[in-house]
Amino acid sequence: MNEEIKYKNIPAMTPTVVHDYLTKIGSEWTGQGVAVELGSWLGATAVPLLTGLITAGYDKPFYAFDRWQANEPEVEKAKRQGVNVYVGEDLLPLFYKNTSKVYNQMKCHKGSISLNLKQYPGDPIEICLFDAPKQDPVFSDAIQALSPHWIPGVTILGLLDYYFYKKRPARREEILVQKRYIEQNAGCFELIADWPDQCSCAFFKVKKIP
Ligand SMILES: C[S@@+](CC[C@H](N)C(=O)[O-])C[C@H]1O[C@@H](n2cnc3c(N)ncnc32)[C@H](O)[C@@H]1O
Repeated sequence: MNEEIKYKNIPAMTPTVVHDYLTKIGSEWTGQGVAVELGSWLGATAVPLLTGLITAGYDKPFYAFDRWQANEPEVEKAKRQGVNVYVGEDLLPLFYKNTSKVYNQMKCHKGSISLNLKQYPGDPIEICLFDAPKQDPVFSDAIQALSPHWIPGVTILGLLDYYFYKKRPARREEILVQKRYIEQNAGCFELIADWPDQCSCAFFKVKKIP
């Protein structure tokens, strides 16, 4: 399993199959809501999603939340994929550089996701990606802030760490939070895509708001 496959020239923490799927769901945008991403890093998931959204006529803000401050594992991951950043570097300029090639209505909220989500303006959400909140309290904060804005029957929720507990048995309890949430609200979600042999990501259609 290799989850570090560059998207074009952008270092990634997700595989090609997910980038392709993001472009597909973006291209199926219905116009009813915005896209929100929690955990954008250098743009390797935002850019393929935007690429699809644009083909569908997307003209709304794209909300991205991240601390965009490189830590050691991120520096190593970027280096392995041919991009040099340093510990503590502000990565937001690099995210803007990568996304500006495809879209310029980015609404970036830099810093703690839990804190910054308090500023979410309340636009209905059609595509909602979680690639940072994989444990509490961040996961519950994110659900509390964003779920009221999901559109039943329309919103796609991408939980990019859904199967992560399989890779980290020692942290199993704390990182089972995404899976437990879906299971506890089983009637509200329908699994629409996953690749459990290749990566930790799973996508769900929101049928009802829990
Ligand atoms: C898994 S990476 C995102 C990878 C990206 N989606 C991709 O596939 O290339 C998670 C990102 O979320 C950020 N992050 C994690 N927890 C956070 C928090 N509580 N507040 C803000 N950012 C956070 C990290 O700094 C990192 O940039």
